[in-house]
Amino acid sequence: MSIRTKKVKGTLLLDGSPQSIEKAAAILRKGGLVAFPTETVYGLGAIATSQEAVNKIFIAKGRPVDNPLIVHISSIKHLYEVAADLPPEAPYLARCFWPGPLSLVLRRAEVVVPEVSAGLMTVAVRMPDHPLAQQLIRAVGAPIAAPSANLAGRPSPTTYRHVIADLCGRIDAVIIGQDCRIGIESTVLDLSGEQPVILRPGGLSREDLETALNCSVHVAGSKFMADKPSSPGMKYRHYSPRAPLILVTGFPRRQQLFIKILSLFYGKQGLQVGILNTTSGGKQSKNTAPERLAAALYRSMRTLDARGVDLILAADTISSGLGLAVRNRLRKAATRVLRV
Ligand code: TXA
Ligand code: MG
Repeated sequence: MSIRTKKVKGTLLLDGSPQSIEKAAAILRKGGLVAFPTETVYGLGAIATSQEAVNKIFIAKGRPVDNPLIVHISSIKHLYEVAADLPPEAPYLARCFWPGPLSLVLRRAEVVVPEVSAGLMTVAVRMPDHPLAQQLIRAVGAPIAAPSANLAGRPSPTTYRHVIADLCGRIDAVIIGQDCRIGIESTVLDLSGEQPVILRPGGLSREDLETALNCSVHVAGSKFMADKPSSPGMKYRHYSPRAPLILVTGFPRRQQLFIKILSLFYGKQGLQVGILNTTSGGKQSKNTAPERLAAALYRSMRTLDARGVDLILAADTISSGLGLAVRNRLRKAATRVLRV
């Protein structure tokens, strides 16, 4: 019954065996921090019912304390324990899309400590579509608060290697799983107001939500919703590689031309230029379907950083399907947006 484990700088690396899940659950129950794979990105978990445990997340990540965390559950029935006064859309959407990349913002129940929600009266809840995440939450027997398992401001981790690079020595354990299937965070949908509003576009498309709800769903911060602030986390320059990123928007063909010109221009100045493959604008091919772009986005940012590039250039992407989330992350990551 040996658990295949290794310790690096005080952080346990655990495989996905039942014994390892038990070990990870015991660490969480005692108030420790464990990173685990989900279908979107790796999460950094702490028990959501302990103020002390949740505070450790903010310290390990260097996360601003006014940025609330998502609570992860392993069954729809637990939705009724972590949230209160549910509107009818909540269980309906949960049945449609859980387990999956949708976080629902609802009134927070008392069992979830206020630190999870950064003092807000609401809480974001989701049920991840990943066997290891579900086994872990079930084994703990309590809801797990988990932001993405990266240092604040860095791109979210889509492989366990990213987690180790950012958090080794700062957290108790990492459960090693496969690379994340979706590669971009969940869609955060606010159900606490008069109408559903997307606070953060993500792994579930707006079109899928609109079909399920049979109405249009606006995105916070868009021209329709100028008065509705997006989720607190969206105000930080986020999801960023270390190198400055120039995002080129406008007509797709001109974008490509400009990227070539800029690349030559900066190259001549002796800068090492990296180009992010984000072009699903114009003609779509299999290689550039938004799902593929989403799955590769954060990994590509980190790869370019590891190569030590001085500057990253990226073209804009289409806004349908997961393209909306990719576009959103590119804008957050950009130091400059050029319209051509
Ligand atoms: O896919 C995901 O959502 C991943 C995996 C691990 O589940 N988690 C994730 O968590 O991306 P994090 O902390 O990196 O992003 C959570 C986002 C932030 O933008 C935060 O502001 C927003 O959700 N959020 C959390 N609770 C909220 C609330 N009560 N009201 C509004 N926004 C909230
Ligand atoms: Mg994050």
